[in-house]
Amino acid sequence: MKTKILLTFIVVLLFWRFPAASQEWLVPGNQLNVENPLPYNLENVQKGKDLYQQNCKSCHGDPGKNNHLPLAPPPPDIVSEQMQANTDGGLFYKITSGRGGMPQFETTISEDDRWRIINFIRNYNADYEQLLIDAPPVNAKLLASVNEADKKVEVLAEYEDKAGNFLQLENTPVFISAKKAFGNQLLGQALTDENGRAVYSIPETLIGDEQGLVSIVVTLGENYLAEQVVLEKAKVGKIKDVPKLIRKEVLWSTNENVQLWLLLSYIGAAGAAWIAIGYVVFQLIKIKKSGKE
Ligand code: HEC
Repeated sequence: MKTKILLTFIVVLLFWRFPAASQEWLVPGNQLNVENPLPYNLENVQKGKDLYQQNCKSCHGDPGKNNHLPLAPPPPDIVSEQMQANTDGGLFYKITSGRGGMPQFETTISEDDRWRIINFIRNYNADYEQLLIDAPPVNAKLLASVNEADKKVEVLAEYEDKAGNFLQLENTPVFISAKKAFGNQLLGQALTDENGRAVYSIPETLIGDEQGLVSIVVTLGENYLAEQVVLEKAKVGKIKDVPKLIRKEVLWSTNENVQLWLLLSYIGAAGAAWIAIGYVVFQLIKIKKSGKE
């Protein structure tokens, strides 16, 4: 018994120590001081940003938002001290070769593009000029309603100033989307006026469900932190054209609408089921009888 406890203890200790010991990601000495051959300029940083969003953001998250995937070890935020403490050569080495949950990009991203991503990462380093000016997002509030008769979405947007007061958000785009089973479909945008109000006319071509209902989602752009407004099931869309036979009310309502093949297959399937049940019952009776004899 004692040895068992001891063994368990050792095993737990081993597994516990190992990941901790492998946290440090060493860069070979000859790679450490390799210099970025591309100039640090707006063009390269901008391209690096696009590449980052396509290839890295899914795990590392948005810069400065600490919304990376919860992997172990975690993919650090590119703004973090841990990321920025790397030399350019170190970053290049790690991006090129990968480790564990971090894929290698040697075969999928060209050398120049890997250096461009490094330029983008440096945009978040205080020692570099910040070429992409990301103003911190401002708190905001959205109110919205649907006018079903006129097929319009009416929005009121406010932002929080430094003193914590909410003021009308003027001359700012609000985005109107239709909620779909998977994600939202952007319909368009409308600009707020001097009172923070915007009106969006829903396109005539928007298709809703079988009753013409659509859930409308209203959001503000990236520069604002505002909870999106979801207007559930507004009657603003065209009625979805479902083939007649599949419509619920047709399938179950009257025999007139039922086509012959449907009727026959129904009778066939139902008949087969009854025959099967009958057969089982018959066998059961037989077993019972033979038991008695
Ligand atoms: C599939 C998820 C995933 C993707 C995609 C991904 N990474 Fe990573 N990344 C990780 C994980 C997990 C780690 C931590 C690995 C470790 O420490 O063992 C990491 C670590 C890193 C590091 C090392 C940080 C340090 O501790 O020094 C760098 C640099 C890096 N990633 C850059 C990138 C870049 C640039 C891209 C896009 C080209 C990218 N990553 C794409 C998951 C990912």
